[in-house]
Amino acid sequence: MTETVVSYARSPLEQLEPSRFWHTFSDMNKVVQGPKFVVSEAQGVWLWDDNGDRYLDGTASLWYCNVGHGRAEIADAVHRQLGRLDAYAVYGDFANAPALELSERLASHAPVADPRVILTCGGGEAIDSAAKVARQYWAVRGRPERVHLISRTGGYHGLNGFGTSIIGMDRFRTGYGPLVTDTSVVAHDSIEELEAEILRVGPERVAAFFAEPVIGAGGVYAPGPDYFARVAALCEYYGILFVVDSVICGFARLGNWFGIERWGVRPDMIVFAKGVTSGYLPLGGVIVSGAVAEPFWNEPGHPLHHGTTYAGHPTCCAAALANLDILEREDLFTASREIEVQLDSAVRTLATHPMVREVRSGVGVMAAVELTEEALAAGITTAEIFQESRARGVVLRAVPTALLISPPLVIAWEQIEHLVSTLRASLDAVAQRHVD
Ligand SMILES: Cc1ncc(COP(=O)(O)O)c(C=O)c1O
Repeated sequence: MTETVVSYARSPLEQLEPSRFWHTFSDMNKVVQGPKFVVSEAQGVWLWDDNGDRYLDGTASLWYCNVGHGRAEIADAVHRQLGRLDAYAVYGDFANAPALELSERLASHAPVADPRVILTCGGGEAIDSAAKVARQYWAVRGRPERVHLISRTGGYHGLNGFGTSIIGMDRFRTGYGPLVTDTSVVAHDSIEELEAEILRVGPERVAAFFAEPVIGAGGVYAPGPDYFARVAALCEYYGILFVVDSVICGFARLGNWFGIERWGVRPDMIVFAKGVTSGYLPLGGVIVSGAVAEPFWNEPGHPLHHGTTYAGHPTCCAAALANLDILEREDLFTASREIEVQLDSAVRTLATHPMVREVRSGVGVMAAVELTEEALAAGITTAEIFQESRARGVVLRAVPTALLISPPLVIAWEQIEHLVSTLRASLDAVAQRHVD
């Protein structure tokens, strides 16, 4: 018998070229022209591409891999759950043990009064759920005119219907025709502008205000020290629901469960996703206060006609439970506070670089390195710096004017130093190229 030598390196992918895979959130016109960056393996803070080259994951994928990659414990929990009950929907009175346990566990940690938990498949879906719950809450309370949703500049709330409509970055809103109406965006750092907008719309027409604890994808902007206390007071005064989007800030990225605890306020709803499973499987949700749930739960005739097929998916919930076990057992909450300080001290050394306008860091394990207007005007792009850094073995995230950093919460000091020194070398190399 002749032995067949099977090689799994590249050949199946090469045969598929040119690929028909449409990368979301991408300019396919550019992507289709170059080779793909195929991620093949990951362990801890490291990634390997299909050539076997290693990279530091400086962004925890898309802000989600808080416990680091390759945790056998989560894989085992998923395997066990698939063997017992793969999936079953949770409409009507159907439930499953992992969804029930996860809801209790999240509720027990949430800074929300008498919480109830809606589960979804991700963050954008959870934002849409929160917006619909907010509007329907007012409708069933006999105030159907209370529909207006206010959000903040730089706020990113996913790209579903409501998320696209309240996003604080115009480039994500255009080209889709009319979006959800009765929404507006105010400056992320101005309580005065928020109050003026509430008064302009009429408080009796405002349903909810949406805010991230620290703005993430919009460029890492932390709030002023009393911003959220004043927001909470304003929302309470005008009877507006206060919805916190903790999709990035939750699950230890800010050193606590939902990020917002750092400012000591109790919102009406908290939206979560990403770090709840560290991305091992897709999951998100909304934690809703008992007061908002009240008419739906305690009064007849108000069914919430909203939900998705895979909400409460038992296998995704099993992944979340195993992930939360790791977060708690390894106390990644405390580790995160230490990494926050280390990352801040390391990344701040870039503030004096001639191409850097500003470094934003120091609240949570997240940072932004903003380029100067001169560098951008000279044609230097963050995409170029991102490419340079990746070629040197560190994956960062490029937004129009800044490089974003949000590593897994298991990153070591030497790895932070490596990340920052690679970014510095990449800035230097790109600057040099533009001089030459
Ligand atoms: C703050 C915030 N909210 C919502 C979302 C949307 O989550 P998803 O991409 O899972 O729909 C994101 C995604 O990055 C986010 O950063």
